[in-house]
Amino acid sequence: MPQTWHAALVLTLGSLVATPVLALPVSFVTAAPPSTGAIALPVGKNGQIGEAASQVDRIANGAISRAITTAAFKGNPGDTLTLYAVGPYSRVTLIGIGEGANTRIGLEDFGGRVARAALEGQAATWAVIVPDAPAIADAGALVALGARLGSYEFPQLGKTARPHTDRPLRLHVANAAAASTAWTQRWQPVGDGVKLARDLISTPSNIKSPQWYTDYIRSAFEGVPNVSITVIDEKEAARLGMGGLVGVGQGSTRPARLLAIHYRGGAKDAAPISFVGKGITFDTGGISIKPGDGMWRMRYDMAGSAASMGAVLAAAKRGAKVNVVGVAALAENMPDGNAIRPGDVLTSMSGKTMEILNTDAEGRMVLADANWWTQETFKPSLLINIATLTGSARAALGDDYAALFHNHEAAAKRVEEAGAAVGENTWRLPIHPSTRADIKSDVADVKNVVEGGAPGASIGAAFIEEWVKPETPWVHLDIAGVAWANSRKPTIPPGAVGFGVKLFDEIISQSEGR
Ligand code: BES
Ligand code: ZN
Ligand code: MN
Repeated sequence: MPQTWHAALVLTLGSLVATPVLALPVSFVTAAPPSTGAIALPVGKNGQIGEAASQVDRIANGAISRAITTAAFKGNPGDTLTLYAVGPYSRVTLIGIGEGANTRIGLEDFGGRVARAALEGQAATWAVIVPDAPAIADAGALVALGARLGSYEFPQLGKTARPHTDRPLRLHVANAAAASTAWTQRWQPVGDGVKLARDLISTPSNIKSPQWYTDYIRSAFEGVPNVSITVIDEKEAARLGMGGLVGVGQGSTRPARLLAIHYRGGAKDAAPISFVGKGITFDTGGISIKPGDGMWRMRYDMAGSAASMGAVLAAAKRGAKVNVVGVAALAENMPDGNAIRPGDVLTSMSGKTMEILNTDAEGRMVLADANWWTQETFKPSLLINIATLTGSARAALGDDYAALFHNHEAAAKRVEEAGAAVGENTWRLPIHPSTRADIKSDVADVKNVVEGGAPGASIGAAFIEEWVKPETPWVHLDIAGVAWANSRKPTIPPGAVGFGVKLFDEIISQSEGR
């Protein structure tokens, strides 16, 4: 845990301390399955079990296959069956994977379900049989990643501390040395990136100011090689002409920041990929204030920036052979005597002016300046915006898809395919030329909302696009619906999802091969 985290907690919460969480250290073994203790077994479609699970069944004198038949256990994803005191085992947990051994997502989900079973069961350690997955490289490490993601818990601030307990998972794989290397060098960093994003998103906004965020990032990247961090404070931002970023932040006593992490793992002169995220540390709506119900969730309004940070951390920790820039456009949107008003006109860094008709459409304002600065500073080969931008995207696509907008077919395809590969799905929405026309303002270049408000997600995208140079391949992901989970999924606990980290990692990984 970074030092500043402690400092912030002590300052804010006085004598209350963060509760340690259960941990599931993972290790890999090539050995035959044990004949004692607690064991988790994958069960495929129609109750099929693989070679290692069959060995366990033989050790248990066939009790497991009899239970599968008797219980009509189909092995569909999500089916689980726990047997107690069979043969020499204290417990055998059967976990349905269907055809999941053929996909990365199926393996991660298996890991997530194993982790939940291990956390909920009382056994001190678990043996886990990794499914035979001939088509997937790194199967064991992907199971470990799923376990890490599925067992994530944010420290419960201010609750009475529980004792710290480890529940080690021993993953039985064909080649333990290879799995261990894949884990530490490739997939554990991705888990660390998702964890960073979730920790940032979950942190309450009394703690999470723009300045706190930059301090937290500095400590999260401490000792990570080939990384340089730039923080632009509100005075510097004003000097650079960032009227959008400074304007949104000026209603708060805790002013705006622009934060960039530059990771150099590729050729010296290679243009970086850039991820520019919305980092509103709390969104009250400002003077156009939001209704009270559910406003608490607006601490997640920096989830886009958190994904950018997490993806760069993962890339840097695993030494990806690419250049990457992660940018967080940080501000707190508050109503105050110094806040911007509806009707105000602001000048952005590019010189383009914006008429503010609704101070609650603030994400697009900070991204305008962040995009311009990123393009001027880094000339990226690809610019991806990621933002909890509109309730409209959430209304259209729920928590199943992020809305995807773009100015470049090949870039859109790349993002779409990466998302599908990692289970972070996207769905394209259009920017009709009429929407571009609708945001023209009578008193400024563009206005930040359009009377009537429809189509909301596309209006937001059209506004942001005004700060994208035509030569920059650009994709914008509106993650308002997917960034916060209301229910548990195998690798996603309720709350902060960390959506985007795995998708960006996939894009980075594929561009390493280019
Ligand atoms: N952070 C919100 C987006 C949001 C709203 C996410 C509701 C989840 C639920 C964003 O800053 C916002 O307030 N957007 C407004 C835009 C409107 C004023 C044009 C919205 O979507 O209502
Ligand atoms: Zn917002
Ligand atoms: Mn808003």
